Formats: sequence, C-alpha cells, structure tokens
Amino acid sequence: MTTVPTLTLNDGRSIPQLGFGVFLVDPDETERIVSDALEAGYRHIDTAAIYRNEQGVGAAIAKSGIPRDELWITTKLWNDSHATAKAHAAIDASLEKLGLDYVDLYLTHWPTRRGDHVEAYLALEEIKAAGKARSIGVSNHTIGQLDEIIAAASSVPVINQIELHPAFAQRELRAYGAEHGIAIESWGPLGQGKYDLFGERAISSAAEAHGVSPAQVVIRWHLQSGLIVFPKSNSRERIAQNLDVFGFELTPDEMAAIDALDRGQRVGGDPLEVN
Ligand SMILES: NC(=O)c1ccc[n+]([C@@H]2O[C@H](COP(=O)([O-])OP(=O)(O)OC[C@H]3O[C@@H](n4cnc5c(N)ncnc54)[C@H](OP(=O)(O)O)[C@@H]3O)[C@@H](O)[C@H]2O)c1
Repeated sequence: MTTVPTLTLNDGRSIPQLGFGVFLVDPDETERIVSDALEAGYRHIDTAAIYRNEQGVGAAIAKSGIPRDELWITTKLWNDSHATAKAHAAIDASLEKLGLDYVDLYLTHWPTRRGDHVEAYLALEEIKAAGKARSIGVSNHTIGQLDEIIAAASSVPVINQIELHPAFAQRELRAYGAEHGIAIESWGPLGQGKYDLFGERAISSAAEAHGVSPAQVVIRWHLQSGLIVFPKSNSRERIAQNLDVFGFELTPDEMAAIDALDRGQRVGGDPLEVN
C-alpha cells in the first residue's frame, strides 16, 4: 500500500497531500470510480455538493469497509447556502448523502458577488463547533477576501483551494498562504486537459528522464512544491498511475524548468468574474 505524505494544517490536523477529485465524475459512475480509487490506495477524496455525486462517494466509502479515521473526506458549501441557517441545512444534507457523521474538511466553494464570504465562513465555524466538520477552509478566495475573513473570524481558514497548475502557478496566493499558515490545494492540477501541458518540453523531458508519464511529473511538481493535490480520472489505470509518484524525485533544475512555465493562464473561471 502506498504511503502518502501528510501536511500539518494550522489547526494541528494532518491531511494526506495526495488525494482523488471527483469534479465531473458522473453521479451514476461515482460509486464504481471512487471504489477503484480506494482500492488503489487513495484515502483522501475531494467532492462538493454542486458535483451532485456525494451519494456515490458515500456508497463507495460504506462498501470499502475502510475505518473512518483512515479517510480524509472533503466537501464544499455551494453559493446558494452561504446564509447561516442555509449552511447548517447544507452540511446536514451533505453528511446524509455521504453517510457520515462529520467531514474532515468543509470549504466555502466559491465567493459570490453578494459579498457574503465572511458570513459563509462564520457559518463554517459554527459547523465545526457542532462537530460536523473537523477542519474548515475556503476555495477560490482572493487575498482581499481572506483578509476580511481573518479580521472577522476567530480562526484562520486551514486551506484555500484554488486553480493551480504549471501555466497558472498562483505565486501571490501561495506567498500569502505561507505568511498566514493557509495551506494551498491545487484544483485542475493537470490543467483539466484543456491545454497541451504534457507536451511542454520541461515536462516531457523530465518524464523521459525518470521513465514516468508527463502526468506523474506534474503531480510530483505539485507535491514537491508543498501543495495538496487530487487529480481526477475516470480510468482505473490512470487512477493507479496518479498515485504511483513516490518512486522518483524531480531535480532542482527540473522543478525550476516547470516553474518557468507559469504564464498566468487559467483554464477555469476567474472567481472575481464568475459566480
Ligand atoms: N474548488 C473548485 O472550484 C474546483 C474546481 C475544479 C476542480 N476542483 C477539484 O479538483 C479536482 C481535480 O481537478 P479537475 O478534475 O478539474 O482536473 P484535473 O485533475 O486537472 O484534470 C482531469 C483531466 O485529466 C485527465 N487525466 C487524469 N489523469 C491523467 C493521466 N495520468 N494522464 C492523462 N490524463 C489524465 C482526466 O481524464 P480521464 O478522466 O479520462 O483520465 C481529466 O480529463 C476535481 O476533481 C475537484 O475535486 C475544485
């Protein structure tokens, strides 16, 4: 069984640095695909209410028989439920679908133009106090939004989950996170297959040098950069391949060459523009 390293969050809890994401995994296929991931050895699953597949994640967890304390399960609060009472109802609905008493991490998924990110985070603090989430954080938040949350809340979010891949390396948010103890999770870590990341010379030559796939090189770059990462795949073979990244190490020169691919190129929506 692969041993995945953990990172310690600002609340003292340890999160597996590599997991499995289920954005765009068909709800009807989710139980089978997450079962494949758990069987391959993943113990960290990243879902969200808006993915509409929490039920399949829960079914796979139940079927696996893996002890609850060996799993790290993240889900996210959607934009229509930022008001306090709605947030409480939303976590209850997510827990019921997941078949769990608590999630390991609950994130506000996306800041809205209503400017209710502080209210949403304060609701997460209540949900944590009620024992329904062990750790709480945010996703797609800007430095300004994080400043407002930190000023108003009694905790600092443990994580900001943001779009992050070699062409969009998010240096400012990473530096802010390092300064404030906010760990960074990379979503779209493989660029969602939306640009020819794997054809980049820095990546293909490192893949050749280590006898691994370009995807494995990119996942290694995230891990060696201190980021938390959960690539998604529907394929049993790629699910296994994406976890098999602990038998090689990128050299400082290879890391620098991949760092140099940053050109501020998003593949997803800008949180300041998309609601
Ligand atoms: N917070 C947010 O707003 C937000 C937004 C987006 C995503 N996320 C989270 O981040 C997770 C990961 O991001 P993502 O799913 O958007 O994109 P991603 O992991 O960057 O890319 C997934 C794509 O890469 C392909 N792929 C996976 N492994 C591969 C391999 N070894 N070789 C070649 N291609 C491979 C997949 O195809 P196959 O399936 O055919 O293998 C799929 O098309 C999500 O699942 C979700 O949990 C969060």
